[in-house]
Amino acid sequence: MAILKIARMGHPVLKQRAAEVPDPAAPEIRRLVADMVETMIDANGAGLAAPQVHVPLRLVVFQAPGERTPDTGEESFDHTAPLTVLINPVIEVLGPELDGGWEGCLSVPELRGYVERPGHIRYRGFDHEGNPVQRTASGFHARVVQHECDHLDGILYPQRMTDLTKLIFESEARHWMRPQIEE
Ligand code: NI
Repeated sequence: MAILKIARMGHPVLKQRAAEVPDPAAPEIRRLVADMVETMIDANGAGLAAPQVHVPLRLVVFQAPGERTPDTGEESFDHTAPLTVLINPVIEVLGPELDGGWEGCLSVPELRGYVERPGHIRYRGFDHEGNPVQRTASGFHARVVQHECDHLDGILYPQRMTDLTKLIFESEARHWMRPQIEE
């Protein structure tokens, strides 16, 4: 396994539509998944999409507890939460309600932004053994899935924002916006 270099906003790989994975159970996909999980944990992220490690394929990994773990002063996620590998994902929005929340991204370091997204979704795809995955999700889980899958279509969370006054540095958020950040 290896820790991979993470592409940052401005790199072309983050702007393109990623390609379908022809064979989700292929050995090279299994290796990529293992490296992405190691990279995500090392970087303390809740999720990672393949384009973020310079691989333009439709594959994401994420760990989504029901909610963010209690705040420790640093962005931190529960890495004992179930790990999901989702290949060639499709998202279906289940209702008109939007949910607002603060997001960060390993490709947009040190910033946080407030993004409204559909609150209830169903997603499906395949895991790295080729088994079908299908789940419904809401709350933080739904947000992570949508954020990661956006990467596969060349979209970063600032492009989803409607109020850019809510794009802020994490270091400032810690001082001034703690209650909202913790929500
Ligand atoms: Ni991201």
